[in-house]
Amino acid sequence: MPNREKSIELLNQAIGEELVAVHQYMYFHFHCDNQGYDMLAAIFKKTAIEEMIHIEHIADRVLFLKGEIEMEPADGVKKINIVKEMLEFATASENAAILMYNDFANQCSANADSVTKKIFEGLVADEERHFDQFDNEMENLEKFGDRYLALQAIERGKGISIMPPGHPQID
Ligand SMILES: [Fe+2]
Ligand SMILES: [Fe+2]
Repeated sequence: MPNREKSIELLNQAIGEELVAVHQYMYFHFHCDNQGYDMLAAIFKKTAIEEMIHIEHIADRVLFLKGEIEMEPADGVKKINIVKEMLEFATASENAAILMYNDFANQCSANADSVTKKIFEGLVADEERHFDQFDNEMENLEKFGDRYLALQAIERGKGISIMPPGHPQID
């Protein structure tokens, strides 16, 4: 049998980091919404929900391994209200998550727990997608500067899609 205690420890560490992401992205969502940046507000909310679903998958595995789910955030929320800094924080934290989950997958492999390893590998794929999404928004901000933000604020309330051509639509 694999060392269940080690897997449970890694899974709970993952929950701690995912909780930070949920809280931080909802905080960004509130501030983008408040400043009229509807598209970014929607992206942060959608990503926060995806991080919450990560917690659900991880917690299921903890219970299967007969562990206890520790719902302890690894850190507090950073009071960042400037969009550029939000995107910098988001890309850095997604990058850290990618490295962390690759490391956790390797540890599970060494520990003969291939099911938990697969869960971490699935998370790597999702965090890479999140990274790419925030990195694209950072590029848009750098390319279009304040116009990128002004357009979002101006279009608010008109009910018009403000996605640039080719941008994935947010539900
Ligand atoms: Fe996540
Ligand atoms: Fe993520």
